[in-house]
Amino acid sequence: MNDLASIRSAFPILDRKVGANRLVYLDNAATTQKPLKVLEASRHYYESLNANIHRGTHHLARAATDAFEAARGTVARHLNATSPEEIIFTSGTTAGINLAASSLALSGRITEGDVVLISALEHHSNIVPWQMLCQRTGAQLKVIPCHDDGTLDQSRFHQWLAEGRVRVMAITWISNAFGTVNPVGQMTQAARDAGALVLIDAAQAAPHIGIDVVGLGADLLVFSGHKLYAPTGIGVLWGRRDLLESLPPWQGGGEMIREVTFEHTTYNDPPFKFEAGTPNIEGAIALAAAVDFVNDIGLDAIHAHESLLMRAAESALTDIDGIRFFGPADRSGSLSFLVDGIHPYDLGTLMDQRGVAVRTGHHCCQPLMARFGISGTVRASFAVYNDTSDVEAIADAVARSVKMLR
Ligand code: ALA
Repeated sequence: MNDLASIRSAFPILDRKVGANRLVYLDNAATTQKPLKVLEASRHYYESLNANIHRGTHHLARAATDAFEAARGTVARHLNATSPEEIIFTSGTTAGINLAASSLALSGRITEGDVVLISALEHHSNIVPWQMLCQRTGAQLKVIPCHDDGTLDQSRFHQWLAEGRVRVMAITWISNAFGTVNPVGQMTQAARDAGALVLIDAAQAAPHIGIDVVGLGADLLVFSGHKLYAPTGIGVLWGRRDLLESLPPWQGGGEMIREVTFEHTTYNDPPFKFEAGTPNIEGAIALAAAVDFVNDIGLDAIHAHESLLMRAAESALTDIDGIRFFGPADRSGSLSFLVDGIHPYDLGTLMDQRGVAVRTGHHCCQPLMARFGISGTVRASFAVYNDTSDVEAIADAVARSVKMLR
């Protein structure tokens, strides 16, 4: 990455110290830091535009509405969506999946004996909403297992599709725990050919991969802003327009209605039908700034840079006695590992004392950890602003911490 120094200088938090050490931030899969462009977009909204949207005729209300709808347009173009009406702003990935699962449960499309397919790699947020849908509808949850290398068992996936009644498939694009990149294009095609609706959890993909929802062929896709350099509390549910038109709303309230009487309510068109209440206006505007930020650099360049650093970190750590990496060699974004005889929390705590921020634990993937017979891992995850000195820092921190713990 040629302009890494100027990229890093756009993230003021990277200058802060942790104790006597510089901050080495390698917990980007949990949340990324925010560039000035995003911070300025949030500040500009509150300093110059703050008003409620879609409701007022006054100048500020119109300006805020225009900025919010322009943000929707930016996100739609970024995803190659057919129209901005396919973009529903949510509070994040979890809210997007809950919205989709709840609306599908209400729709009557899923009935007793139908199958909802997820995978062994899912985050709790792509497990629990589907369990709740199954409880409501009598559908059965089936889980595509994974191999020891953290890739999905494709033959079992095709076997279950062939057995029939798969109405929904909800899978992650990139595993937050192991970095496995699922072949979502092929899996989507196969599931749709078998008559299933497909939801892609792109929470970990959005920061690393350019998304083309038309090319992907899925029905629904979700991601969070905060993992893509935007603030927390904003996310996106993209849906095929005809599907969104046919699905019922989940939450009732202002904005999602066309007309209300005490006897009967008619609903607004998508996306408003799914955006009850005052949305996170500033968050949407800042998300658009984050989308511009990554596109100015280019997601291909960002991904290549992060992958180079992750491979360098893997090779720098590989000589640590008893280290075990999880996920396939072509993992993306996250490098998960354990060191024999050392609890991940102990390792993470000592690494933190050297300023190195990583995530330790089950990464909201308890069933995946159970599949591997472990309670958790140490996970280093990379972003555009990381550099080779961060790789040196993690290698040094792990080596010294392991020495102290043995
Ligand atoms: N889902 C986020 C993670 O993987 C919080 O850390």
